[in-house]
Amino acid sequence: MISVSETILSRRVEAGAGADRILKRAGAAWFLVAALGQGAFAAYIVAFYWRAAVLGDVQRWNEVLGGHGVTPGQPASNLFLGLHLLLAGIVTVGGPLQLVPWVRARFIGFHRWNGRAYVVTAIGASLAAFYLVAKRGTIAGSIMSVAISLDGVLILACAAMAWRQALARRIDSHRRWAMRTFMVASGVWFYRVGLMAWFLVNRGPAGHTDSFDGPFDVFWAYGCYLLPLAVLELHQWVRDRGGAAAKLGMAGLIGAAALATGLGVFGAVVGMWLPRL
Ligand code: HEM
Repeated sequence: MISVSETILSRRVEAGAGADRILKRAGAAWFLVAALGQGAFAAYIVAFYWRAAVLGDVQRWNEVLGGHGVTPGQPASNLFLGLHLLLAGIVTVGGPLQLVPWVRARFIGFHRWNGRAYVVTAIGASLAAFYLVAKRGTIAGSIMSVAISLDGVLILACAAMAWRQALARRIDSHRRWAMRTFMVASGVWFYRVGLMAWFLVNRGPAGHTDSFDGPFDVFWAYGCYLLPLAVLELHQWVRDRGGAAAKLGMAGLIGAAALATGLGVFGAVVGMWLPRL
């Protein structure tokens, strides 16, 4: 005969398993939207920057970058800009591919090589960008120069940790650091997508100025990588230690993030990337 306490226990186990499933699905839904959005960003980088370079028309870059683009008499800056844009395209494709469980399970050799390429290109893109920021700042001004440089430091630190843990065969820790690397290396993408989602929700550039020093500009310069990183940490904590209610709450938060990300991707594709092609 089954006792009352056994019945309660088995119901709790069932509720826990159901919440785990819902949380996993919410995470997968967000990742699908993000992977499509990063694919669109990568396609823009290739179709605009890489294409112009192949056609020998790098001056076209300045239609977007203005005075921060190709500049006569600054060969080193121009070289590092070219390197940054080359590596940026590779990072944006490599990151999402690295996180697909299906690819990881079936093509472990590819996963290892893509992982190495991802870490090297993310580090290379950041190092090239440090030079650009030090030499001539960023289009979005001094607040962005400090914020994006901190993002660059976090990319270097997280990528180094992910690599170290993989070499030491600490796979669980490696995965955590790889996810952190993905979040901070996607900061530039989150910035564009978040900005467009915010503009769409507010039906205009609320809290934004042309010199990028409005309240939203300051918040999002740091928030574009610190907020996703905080949500990731919370997700991992709730997944490993949370009860069923916490997991359902987290699934709701990630579901809302998936909707906001989808809206931002739509805004960035239609309002930012397509018109530049
Ligand atoms: C690793 C991920 C990164 C990607 C995918 C990426 C991507 C890009 C892209 C596509 C552009 C051209 C602008 C546009 O068309 O939107 C750009 C420009 C630029 N990026 Fe990055 N970037 C990354 C990381 C960084 C970091 C960490 C820094 C700073 C340390 C940085 C600094 C710059 C600068 C200075 C420019 C030139 C435009 C400006 O002055 O604002 N990027 N990046």
